[in-house]
Amino acid sequence: MTNLYALGLGIGTQNSKGDWLEVFYAQPLLKPSVAASTAIAQIIQYTDGNQAILISNSHANEIAIALEAVGELDQAALAKKMASSKRPLVVTVLATDTNPASVPEAYLKLHLLSHRLVKPHNTILTGIFGVLPNVAWTNKGAVDINELPALQLQARLEGEELEVSCVDKFPKMTNYVVPKGVRIAHTARVRLGAYLGEGTTIMHEGFVNFNAGTEGPAMIEGRISAGVFVGAGSDLGGGSSTMGTLSGGGNIVISIGKESLIGANAGTGIPLGDRCKIESGLYITAGTKVVVLDETGAEVKTIKARELAGVSDLVFRRNSITGRVEVVTNKSALQLNSALHVN
Ligand SMILES: CC(C)(COP(=O)(O)OP(=O)(O)OC[C@H]1O[C@@H](n2cnc3c(N)ncnc32)[C@H](O)[C@@H]1OP(=O)(O)O)[C@@H](O)C(=O)NCCC(=O)NCCS
Repeated sequence: MTNLYALGLGIGTQNSKGDWLEVFYAQPLLKPSVAASTAIAQIIQYTDGNQAILISNSHANEIAIALEAVGELDQAALAKKMASSKRPLVVTVLATDTNPASVPEAYLKLHLLSHRLVKPHNTILTGIFGVLPNVAWTNKGAVDINELPALQLQARLEGEELEVSCVDKFPKMTNYVVPKGVRIAHTARVRLGAYLGEGTTIMHEGFVNFNAGTEGPAMIEGRISAGVFVGAGSDLGGGSSTMGTLSGGGNIVISIGKESLIGANAGTGIPLGDRCKIESGLYITAGTKVVVLDETGAEVKTIKARELAGVSDLVFRRNSITGRVEVVTNKSALQLNSALHVN
């Protein structure tokens, strides 16, 4: 057995046809030890490649014994608990980091992100939309959309109500993992696959998509689109927006540097460097024409915002007299950005 990319002992939900709807991995492993991988592989008859293997409760018990024998005590304890599961069990083995090909594989990768084992963009998620089914997330767990009407009727007949909290391909992260040191005011606003660094607060207006998140600490009252990563000490103001790349033709991957601020109702379609600010209400797109001002407020040149992608120590504002978008050096920054003023 060579080194694997990832491994997860999972408890999942299947529809009536036996198709996976979702999988919960209590302790996903990135680069598991060869000892643990070998012990598990022998029991589930894994040979190679990326595979999700349905296992029985007695398999889980055997895995627990085998893991204990090689000193993998945390995973052994988990396998032991899984042996009494009332839900289907799966062992997902990823030999390599490639496009997720099944629901258990996709969920393992989303768990790696939310458990902070990999950062956004550091695991391949290409094609994940096609792999994940649209699921009704209810107070009785995940339900296949096509099986929902029958369950709703059944609940009513029993004098109950089936609560459907959302219908989506991605569940809320907090039903799978709550990473240490975060505060989330409205849990439905953070999808599984979000990466929230320690010290991150997500207020009610905040939203974090999968494969996106914060290095931490951060105050997030705006939307972090898929693929966007926000550096330490940055603040997304109320209702602000970071432009995603999933639709609308945008192809620049947005990131926000350290100690930057996107004002309330503002937004960006370019990556920001460190210690940048965008005035409340101003949306910068890649093609926005921006007038560069020097320290005295004199005009230096006009450029497109995309030329300022990733540049640090900038303040963007819309001149309230002329309406034009201007950029000045962030005076509160420790270092002035001389590169900006070069003609
Ligand atoms: C853009 C912003 C960062 C500028 O703040 P600042 O650096 O403190 O600047 P000031 O407000 O002190 O203004 C400095 C000067 O620029 C002028 N100025 C500021 N914004 C301007 C604008 N849009 N157009 C023209 N002049 C402007 C001020 O009048 C002031 O002029 P003065 O030197 O003659 O007095 C701030 O207005 C802003 O939008 N912050 C975001 C806050 C926010 O939304 N937080 C999140 C909450 S949820």
